[in-house]
Amino acid sequence: MSKRWSIDDIDWSRFDRSKVSSRLLEIVRAAAMVEYRSGDYVTYLCNVFTDDEEFKAAARVWGEEEIQHGLALAQWARMADPTFDFEASYREFTEGFHLELERNESIRGSRTGELLARCMVEIGTSSFYSAIRDASEEPVLREICTQIARDEFAHYGLFRRHMERYQAREGKGMGYRLRTALMRAIETQDDELSYAFHAGNSLPGPYDRKQANSAYAARALPLYQPGHVERGIFMALKALGFEREWSWQRGLATLAYRLLRVRARMADDSTPPDTQRHAA
Ligand SMILES: [Fe+2]
Ligand SMILES: [Fe+2]
Repeated sequence: MSKRWSIDDIDWSRFDRSKVSSRLLEIVRAAAMVEYRSGDYVTYLCNVFTDDEEFKAAARVWGEEEIQHGLALAQWARMADPTFDFEASYREFTEGFHLELERNESIRGSRTGELLARCMVEIGTSSFYSAIRDASEEPVLREICTQIARDEFAHYGLFRRHMERYQAREGKGMGYRLRTALMRAIETQDDELSYAFHAGNSLPGPYDRKQANSAYAARALPLYQPGHVERGIFMALKALGFEREWSWQRGLATLAYRLLRVRARMADDSTPPDTQRHAA
């Protein structure tokens, strides 16, 4: 298995500075760092699946692809803003936000749970990059996000396949799987992205989780269209074992989209990091 595309495949000459959105740039800076750090999760996954050579090989390729997402996004962010110091921001991010990687068991309590949680992450990233692609007018960012979103959909498929293998063995009940999936979905509002947003955009003062999280949400959540949310809900239900389409699925997707809109409106947009950054 090898990576499906490389950074050199991107047509960087099409970059159009006049079409760069500063708000998209702010979330791209944060995303670049979280993606780049995914390589660290390979260590964790290889610890958890220590005797599963097939999965460990797949996890290593997965990690390489995620690192490439980080590098491509960082390169674009640097083109859009030559003052962006990815290395310095990344250092601040990794020093300020620690990951617990040296474990021999999944923090989700089972291998099925671990892989289900990975499916949820990939649902989040595939819809996130689809949303950025659809919102961006800048052609290179669109191209990068098209490639990344394809990878994220493939990652979801990869983790789901392995999850089904473990589920056949472990037979985890629906209650546990539902709880695990929901927990992971809620964690997407966690510290990691907020810290990356803080470090990537050089927000003034010490890290303020609430403020960084809110500023990030104010920029990212309005990008989602109903179709992005609907597809994500369908993917989540499929990972939970709902094979056929039920009539209530569409209603659930509409509800999820409405909740996301409410959350987007509640997000405090009072910290324009770009202004702060360049005023410095
Ligand atoms: Fe990624
Ligand atoms: Fe991914």
